[in-house]
Amino acid sequence: MNESDSERIAGLLAAAGARLADRPEDSQVTIVNTCAVRGKSEEKLFSYLGRLRSLKKKTGLVIVLAGCVAQLHQDRILDRNPDVDFILGPDNYHRLPELLERRLGQPRVLTAWSKDWREDERRLSLRRSPVSAFVTVMEGCDNFCAYCIVPFTRGREKFRPLRAVLDEVRVLAGEGYKEIQFLGQNVNSYRDPDTGAGFRDLLMAADEVEGIEWIRFITSHPKNFGPDIAEAMARSRHVCRQIHMPLQSGSSAVLERMKRGYSREDYLEKIRVLRSLMPGICLSTDIIVGFPGETESEFSETLGALDEIRFANIFSFRYSPRPRTSAVKLKDDVPFGVKRRRLMDVQQAQKTIQTRLHEGFIGRTIRVLCLGKSKKDERVFSGRSEGYQVVNFRSETDVIGRFVPVRITACGPYSLRGELAESP
Ligand code: 5AD
Ligand code: SF4
Repeated sequence: MNESDSERIAGLLAAAGARLADRPEDSQVTIVNTCAVRGKSEEKLFSYLGRLRSLKKKTGLVIVLAGCVAQLHQDRILDRNPDVDFILGPDNYHRLPELLERRLGQPRVLTAWSKDWREDERRLSLRRSPVSAFVTVMEGCDNFCAYCIVPFTRGREKFRPLRAVLDEVRVLAGEGYKEIQFLGQNVNSYRDPDTGAGFRDLLMAADEVEGIEWIRFITSHPKNFGPDIAEAMARSRHVCRQIHMPLQSGSSAVLERMKRGYSREDYLEKIRVLRSLMPGICLSTDIIVGFPGETESEFSETLGALDEIRFANIFSFRYSPRPRTSAVKLKDDVPFGVKRRRLMDVQQAQKTIQTRLHEGFIGRTIRVLCLGKSKKDERVFSGRSEGYQVVNFRSETDVIGRFVPVRITACGPYSLRGELAESP
């Protein structure tokens, strides 16, 4: 979401006549678009702001702080970093061209929420990829998981009209995009504000758009992932057999403390339905280790779940207490060293699982959407499989934006390597 917002900010400014610079040193304005989901990115922000401050002394750089950390810590940031010129929450990006054009000194902080979806500049994104595009369908979250700051930085759920989403998908197809990724904190709770149509209807309608070959979506909350969506995926022609569905913990007791609204068994049942409808579907997930009170045996249930489910990929994090969340009131009692060890255990276990899964691909020919090429070697290209695995291969001709058959010849835990099976 943060990356997609950066593309939107760049698009808004490009439409107003600005050009993208490669480095803050070459820019008149540097916008730092922040994510507040975990504590670590916040720490990095403050050291980065220090660097920009010395640059500002030399070049007169205008510094804009945008995104969720800006929304959360607006006053504190201005106290600690008086050199920041503007603070812009995630619902206020559209004001940026106007602010910069008029070089307004006031207001410096814009963090108001609008309750309704604001469609106006959605099409102005300056997308980084000419092949695969994010399309936002909803923003915000009503779930209030105990550890999560998102409902406080993004506000409540807001849905984009289905008509507007489909219009954007058609425009992207016309521009030659091959893949779209529907984006939202909780896409499965999508409701068209005009007609009440749900996420399943959105998937089915997008499936009809000529030219879009692959459709993906992130993120799915297990609680809202009903069989209707799984069935629509299975029936569709273009929705990828791949899903990212955060588990967070393999222990029902921890899930309850996290206020996730499902148990380990509920999650396993969802996976069973998905796999029976779509054998071979690739699953990925998010895991948090060291949530307050997590015992060694609760943690081992997470390792057990990874073994049982065998995800194609996971993103794993050490719990960090976030302001305003309900878990911040719980004692952060798992020592840092234990969190670190649990994170390593999770990552090591997953590495073994992924290596085994990838070895099963050797000798097989799979369809790959080529997304880019290596910076080091002009003839090495990189793409993704339908299951979202990274696939690297050599090609004498430029195949970016094309689907190519690749025969897998080698692998590591994080990617597959192969050769073109036919000349494209
Ligand atoms: N500490 C650690 N990880 C977190 N996440 C969200 N909040 C926290 C937190 N306080 C992780 C979750 C979520 C992903 C986007 O970030 O796993 O799914
Ligand atoms: Fe955060 Fe939970 Fe909402 Fe995901 S569903 S954004 S983890 S509150």
